[in-house]
Amino acid sequence: MRFIFLGPPGAGKGTQAKKLASDCQIPQISTGDILRAAVSNKTEMGLKAKFFMDKGKLVPDEVILGIIKDCLDEERCKDGYILDGFPRTINQAIELSSLLKEINSKIDAIFNFKVKDEIIINRLCGRRVCKDCGALYHVEYLKTAKENICDHCQGELYQRKDDTEEIVKKRLLVYHDLTSPLIEYYKKLSLLKEIEGEGDVREIYKEIKAFLEKN
Ligand code: AP5
Repeated sequence: MRFIFLGPPGAGKGTQAKKLASDCQIPQISTGDILRAAVSNKTEMGLKAKFFMDKGKLVPDEVILGIIKDCLDEERCKDGYILDGFPRTINQAIELSSLLKEINSKIDAIFNFKVKDEIIINRLCGRRVCKDCGALYHVEYLKTAKENICDHCQGELYQRKDDTEEIVKKRLLVYHDLTSPLIEYYKKLSLLKEIEGEGDVREIYKEIKAFLEKN
């Protein structure tokens, strides 16, 4: 089971990918999470990536492709994975396709999460993340039992640096310009399943599961 989760920032890719990964016992490969870990560990790649991430821009393809190549070679990915937030440019998609051909593998389904820009701004400005386990919350829609404390691991919550209104608007411009053309690209390959991402989190998950059971 090899999936791609496509969609604008804040569309709910991470929220749904975490559930599906846990249900299917496959890893969630989030390029954003990998980059943030590199930033916090102050690695050479992290320092390079930070410059772009802080501005809401995409990190150069060669950095991202190196990350993906390394991940797909790992033992934990041999029975499947969810690519969350990759590919994000046509060039990344083309490179992924050649990489998969080389290792005689293929993607089984691509889920495209559709959410309007104004909803995204509200979601991302209110998003909070557990600094220990990465669980996702929202100050209005998904509150923790204790303020700022993760329900799962009691870790402290934080707000991502790129979740300010100014940067979210820049990320949305980048999405419309460079990432949204992937929708047509993957439609042509008949692999795309459109997901209405504005509904209830549990209902969206049911739709994903129902699709996978039928296909
Ligand atoms: P990344 O971390 O991938 O960020 P993103 O794509 O901008 O996506 P998000 O994580 O912000 O949103 P999401 O769709 O996962 O939504 P979530 O489930 O959290 O990338 C960050 C940066 O890294 C990029 O800007 C770029 O610089 C770089 N980068 C990463 N990958 C790259 C690549 N391939 N190429 C180049 N650069 C790359 O949900 C959001 C909020 O909404 C949460 O609070 C959640 O609780 C809430 N929510 C979720 N679903 C619902 C719902 N149905 N109803 C109400 N609220 C909901």
